[in-house]
Amino acid sequence: MTIAIAFGDLVKSYGKFNAVDHLSAEVQQGRITGFLGPNGAGKSTTLRCLVGLADPSSGSAEIFGKKYRDLDNPLSRVGTVLDSRGFHGALSGKANLKVVAAAAGIPDARVDEVLQMVELTEAADRKMKKYSLGMKQRLALAGAILGDPEVLILDEPANGLDPAGIAWLRKFLRSLASGGRTILVSSHQLAEMQNTVDDVLIINKGRLIAEGPKEQVMGGDTLEEAFLKLTGGALS
Ligand SMILES: Nc1ncnc2c1ncn2[C@@H]1O[C@H](COP(=O)(O)OP(=O)(O)OP(=O)(O)O)[C@@H](O)[C@H]1O
Ligand SMILES: [Mg+2]
Repeated sequence: MTIAIAFGDLVKSYGKFNAVDHLSAEVQQGRITGFLGPNGAGKSTTLRCLVGLADPSSGSAEIFGKKYRDLDNPLSRVGTVLDSRGFHGALSGKANLKVVAAAAGIPDARVDEVLQMVELTEAADRKMKKYSLGMKQRLALAGAILGDPEVLILDEPANGLDPAGIAWLRKFLRSLASGGRTILVSSHQLAEMQNTVDDVLIINKGRLIAEGPKEQVMGGDTLEEAFLKLTGGALS
């Protein structure tokens, strides 16, 4: 198996507090890996270090053996949805994607293609600020796949989605992964991710507590039960 993403003794501290605390873990290529842990566990901080939005205090976070910013063509190799992503509310969904596409040298025809993939063709010309939360999440996903990247890094894409939205997301991620893509997707909702992912990385208080194929980590329990056992039931 090929390693797509590797964290090597990664530390990100704020003052004396380690938001990410000596995290070493690997993400296998071509699989959906759930990056799971409760609120405040350090998921977003880790992903921000991975894509160069935050500088590690020590250790490493690499994609295909390189820092994100050292990759050739990072936009076509790695797609991201992180909470800080900025779309303009006054522009339509389509216009927003065209801005991103133009900046990355991606043809407009691809914008129509990704709008269709996230089922926003009908709403493409409506102002983004009028979109529902689910539609905004789907637009962000469309932006992430514009460059047809090999790796997708998604921070809480299921946040705020209703059951139909979560089922849609699951199918969408599965279809991307079946084309050989690597997906690292964070969530604090363990039950919702259980059916979506192949592998899990579970962290708590910045530290790795479990890593591997989900069945192996669950050992016959649900992901939530496994998490509670691994952490002694303590909430952070
Ligand atoms: N810029 C910052 N300055 C200080 N502390 C921070 C900063 N960013 C994050 N933290 C702290 O680091 C810890 C981890 O936060 P992080 O956002 O990475 O968690 P998370 O796992 O993404 O949580 P959630 O599920 O709520 O999104 C938290 O205690 C948070 O308060
Ligand atoms: Mg977060």
